[in-house]
Amino acid sequence: MTKIVYVGMSADLVHPGHINIIRRAAELGEVTIGLLTDRAIASYKRMPVMAWEQRAEVAGQIKGVVRVVPQDTLDYVPNLRKYRPDIVVHGDDWREGVQARTRQAVIDALAEWGGELVEVPYTQGISSTQLHEAMREIGTTPDIRRGSLRRMLNAKPVVRFLDLHNALSGLIIEKAGIDTPQGRREFDGMWASSLTDSTAKGKPDTEAVDTTARTTTLNEVLEVTTKPIIYDGDTGGKPEHFQFTVRTLERLGVSAVIIEDKTGLKKNSLFGTEVEQTQDSIEAFSDKIRQGKLAQQTDDFMIIARLESLILGKGVDHAMERAEAFIAAGADGIMIHSRDKSPDEVFEFCDRYARLEHRKPLVAVPSSYNTVTEDELAARGVNIVIYANQLLRSAYPAMLETALSILEHQRSAECDARMMPIKEILELIPGTK
Ligand code: SPV
Ligand code: MG
Repeated sequence: MTKIVYVGMSADLVHPGHINIIRRAAELGEVTIGLLTDRAIASYKRMPVMAWEQRAEVAGQIKGVVRVVPQDTLDYVPNLRKYRPDIVVHGDDWREGVQARTRQAVIDALAEWGGELVEVPYTQGISSTQLHEAMREIGTTPDIRRGSLRRMLNAKPVVRFLDLHNALSGLIIEKAGIDTPQGRREFDGMWASSLTDSTAKGKPDTEAVDTTARTTTLNEVLEVTTKPIIYDGDTGGKPEHFQFTVRTLERLGVSAVIIEDKTGLKKNSLFGTEVEQTQDSIEAFSDKIRQGKLAQQTDDFMIIARLESLILGKGVDHAMERAEAFIAAGADGIMIHSRDKSPDEVFEFCDRYARLEHRKPLVAVPSSYNTVTEDELAARGVNIVIYANQLLRSAYPAMLETALSILEHQRSAECDARMMPIKEILELIPGTK
C-alpha cells in the first residue's frame, strides 16, 4: 500500500534544499505538505514574504506533492495525529537548537502508530535566511509593505514597533535581533514618531514640521528598509488636508496612520495637563476619520484613532465613549495613550475595551509606565506595542557626552573607547566599499 509521507515547510522562498527533501519524500510515498501558516511561522521567525494561499499554490505544483494542508503551529503533533503519516521527512538540520524539541515531539508522536522519521542531509550553500537577506537588499514594494501590518496582526498576538527619526534608525529597527529559546526576536516594524522626527530636525513637536518634511524622512527610511511603518499623523490637520496625507502615505507603502483627537496647536501628549491642550469633539474627530476612510484607495491601509482622554485626566469612561464612537466612524484601530507611571488606568481601559462587540486592534505606548512587559499588555488584549522615542533618547545623550568630552580634554582620545571604531562605521552600511 502506498505510504503517506508528511513534510512540514514554509515554502516561502523555495530553493533546491526544499526540492531535495520533497524528491526524497516522493520516493517513499505520497507526499503531503504541512504548509506552515503565517501564525506558525511568525511564532519563531520573521513573517513569510508570501501569504499562505500563494505559498500553497507554489508548493502544490512541486513534482511529487499530492496535497497541501495547513499546519497552524510549529509543533507538528496536532497535524500528525490528524493525518497519521507513515513517514515524516525533514532536513537533518533540526537536531540541535530551537527545533530540537519539535523534532523529539515528532518522533514521539510517530511512535504512537509505528511511523518513522527520515532525515535528509541538509543542502549546503543555500538557505531561506540567505535568501531573505538578499531580498532585503533588493527591497520591497509599497503594496507588499503596506499590507504586511494587517497580515502580521492576523498572525501574531502582539507586534512591537520602535521609533525612527532617520534612515539609520530605520536600519537598526530593520536589522536588530536576538536569538532566544523561542526563536529569533526582532522588531516587527517602525513608528514614524512626530516627536523624534521633529526633535531630530531641531523643531518643537507642534506640527511645525509639516507633512512634506515628515515624508522626506519617510522616503529616506523607505529606501533602505522593508518592515511596515506606522505613521504618527498628529491631529491629522484639517479633514480636507488629512485626505491628502492618507493618499500620500498609502502611495509610499505606509501601513497605518494614527491621528490623535486633539485640536488647535498640538503639544506633545507627555506634557499632559501642564500645557494647554484641547480635545476635539467626538463629532468633528469622527468626521475626520470618515473623510480619511473615504480618501483611502487600498483595503490594506489603516486609520487608527488615538484617544487623549487619559492624558488629559478625563478618565476611562470618557475614553471608552470615544473608542466606540471612533470605531463606529470607521477607525481601523484604537490607540490608548497615558502618561501615568502605573499601567493601571490603561489596563482598566483594555479590560473594558476587550468586551466591545466591534473591537478593533488596540495600540499602547508604554513610555511612562515602562515597567510593563509586552506579555502583560498582550494578555490584556493589546495588539501593537509602540516604543515611541527610545532610540532618539538614547542617541542624544551619547552624542552630547562626546561633545562635552572633546570640550573638556581638547582632544578626542578620552571618548574614543565609547565610540564605534572608524573601520566599523566605514563598513556599517552594506555597499559602502
Ligand atoms: C510621538 O512619538 O511623537 C508620539 C507619542 O506621539 S508621544 O510622544 O508619547 O506623544
Ligand atoms: Mg507624536
